Amino acid sequence: MHQSKILGTGHYVPPRVMTNDEIAKMVDTSHQWIVERTGIHQRRIADPKVDIPSEMAYKATLKALEAAKLQPNDIELILFSTTFPDMFFPNTATQLQLKLGITNNCGCLDMNAACTGFMYAFTLADGLIRAGMYKTILVVGAEMTSGFNNWKDRNTCILFGDGAGVAILGRTPAGEKSGVKSHVLSGDATKGEHLMLRGGGAAIPINAENVGTDVQCVVMDGKEVFKAAVKTMASHAEQLLAEGNTSMDQVDWFIPHQANLRIIEAVANRFNFPLERAVVNVDRYANTSSATIPIAMDEAIRDGRIQRGQTLMLTAFGAGMTSGGALLTY
Ligand code: UT7
Repeated sequence: MHQSKILGTGHYVPPRVMTNDEIAKMVDTSHQWIVERTGIHQRRIADPKVDIPSEMAYKATLKALEAAKLQPNDIELILFSTTFPDMFFPNTATQLQLKLGITNNCGCLDMNAACTGFMYAFTLADGLIRAGMYKTILVVGAEMTSGFNNWKDRNTCILFGDGAGVAILGRTPAGEKSGVKSHVLSGDATKGEHLMLRGGGAAIPINAENVGTDVQCVVMDGKEVFKAAVKTMASHAEQLLAEGNTSMDQVDWFIPHQANLRIIEAVANRFNFPLERAVVNVDRYANTSSATIPIAMDEAIRDGRIQRGQTLMLTAFGAGMTSGGALLTY
């Protein structure tokens, strides 16, 4: 059986910064409230004429290919996680294939597990590489959350941002240690109603009566999502450590989904895990849904915090409610 190795990572965020003060001009909120309750100071917002998900993913992938010293045609499969695809079909993975100039007819699959999507795609990629079916897989989390944000709802519009992060997974060369020690994927549909975007699909098509209403936007019960997030991420962390035969002390970096600094702190507190060893960028990018983990991981690799041979713990949760994580040697 093969092990998988993260050969290269990349990320891209659109240049437009939206501050809390700007949001306070649209809804009844303040910079102080947002910082105190979420840790978010600003987020990036994509210009849809320039940076739709396939385009952000393209820019992130160029950096990952360079880091991995690979060419676009080395990619054998694209697993593209997004909650807001370029369009219903063709899927966004094919749009990325086109932009990258890939001519090998590699497989192209979109995946939606909301904010957990990257962990689902990453775990599938790891499994396919372990099984020997593929050698090189591009795993993407790319999101234009501004497209479904309700800019009149202070409960949600403060929370989200746009961006893309990618990881290229390949076979671990003989003699190297990189690989996934344990993983977890889960879903609890009984809590699905707490975070939804209901319209635009077969159940509630957008029509003349509901266009412009909140069926086109994210709706959330923040308190319920908060509680579920802390509980699930903490229990997943415990499971990852037990199944990976690893103690919290041996984890060099904790890379959690970036939704709210208080959620990250609450999870870290349960394990007495020092916040200095958690990778946090929610202050600058807010919640970029399935892009948060690959963006955070790439930043920490590029600035030298994450080193080869170190142990990383990734955990995510999102609408569904879906959740997942992985413990791995980088
Ligand atoms: O990937 C998953 C995505 N979602 C999440 O992870 C969200 C998880 N939930 C959260 O992060 C938090 O629940 C929020 C940040 C959304 C809300 O924070 P909270 O501490 O749970 O606030 P709350 O909902 O209990 O609201 C407290 C008060 C309320 O006023 P009253 O009823 O006490 O008068 C809200 O109306 O704060 C009010 N409030 C705001 N005030 C200023 C809610 N949103 C805002 C706001 N600015 N943006």
